Amino acid sequence: MQDPRFTRTLLDWYAEYGRDLPWRRTRDPYAIWLSEIILQQTRIAQGQAYWERFMERFPTVEALAAASEDEVLRLWQGLGYYSRGRNLLTAARQIAARGAFPDTLAEIRALKGVGDYTAAAIGSIAFGLPAAVVDGNVYRVLSRFYGLATPVGSTAAKKEFTTLAQALLPPDRPGDFNQAMMDFGALQCTPAAPLCPTCPLADRCEALRSGRTALLPVKKPAAAVQTRRLHYVYIRSNGAVAFHRRGPGDIWQGLWEPWLEEGDNFRGFPGMKQVRKDVRHQLTHRTLIADFYLLDCSEIPSLTEDYIWIPEAELDKYAKPRLIEILLEAL
Ligand code: ADE
Repeated sequence: MQDPRFTRTLLDWYAEYGRDLPWRRTRDPYAIWLSEIILQQTRIAQGQAYWERFMERFPTVEALAAASEDEVLRLWQGLGYYSRGRNLLTAARQIAARGAFPDTLAEIRALKGVGDYTAAAIGSIAFGLPAAVVDGNVYRVLSRFYGLATPVGSTAAKKEFTTLAQALLPPDRPGDFNQAMMDFGALQCTPAAPLCPTCPLADRCEALRSGRTALLPVKKPAAAVQTRRLHYVYIRSNGAVAFHRRGPGDIWQGLWEPWLEEGDNFRGFPGMKQVRKDVRHQLTHRTLIADFYLLDCSEIPSLTEDYIWIPEAELDKYAKPRLIEILLEAL
């Protein structure tokens, strides 16, 4: 259902209150793609500095395509969800190999690390393609304004909200409309305390009329958070420490870490000292609780063959999970 008044009001609001962000001052699809990948699971306040560093170090997709995975992961360090960093490099090589940034929705969607949301964002912002983004902001704004109670996360909701957002999208300004929805959800129609008294859509908002702004959007119960217990031992010998690179299978793939044992029955090694206990680290679906130990050895101990000895002064050159950085700081 089209709703020209909604669309116009939102675009007017965006012209006045939209955020001034560096990737909004360019039409370079590479710069826009990079911003969308970084912002997939990262807030703007944190992501902007990373975007600037990447643009400075890799001004073009060709420059990024020529980088090593280690270098990309090191620059990505601290952003989390490292598969995004690995996919970024894979996609840069895909783009460089085809010679130009893809400019159709299907080809953009085919890039590694690009899903429906990101394809719509890049397509609309960089190329003016008429594709609506649908994310938490869009669910919130539309479910409140139109009083829609379909639980978000359901297939039915995805279909319903995509169809609605697509109908509201003005074909001549899809990028502005999508970014207006993002900003409106982030700044005006916020999750916990929406600013209804100053809202330009308040006069027609169904949630406000019926006193349901706190009840919409309807959420499905969150999945239980799992806890994992980790024991890291910083094994040091002759100025070097034993580290290994994590293999495939989880979000820390490709990152480096010291000796690790997992579980409740860790006994440790003779002579090791505890440095930190019960350091909690929150991931989306897991809580990690880590203990950290130091073991100084005069003779080099034999470890499994995936461990290498890295001079302590060179540890900086290795990409590590944020948790490991926290543990190193504790030393
Ligand atoms: N989140 C994801 N993409 C964004 C964009 N282009 N502007 C603001 N927030 C975003």
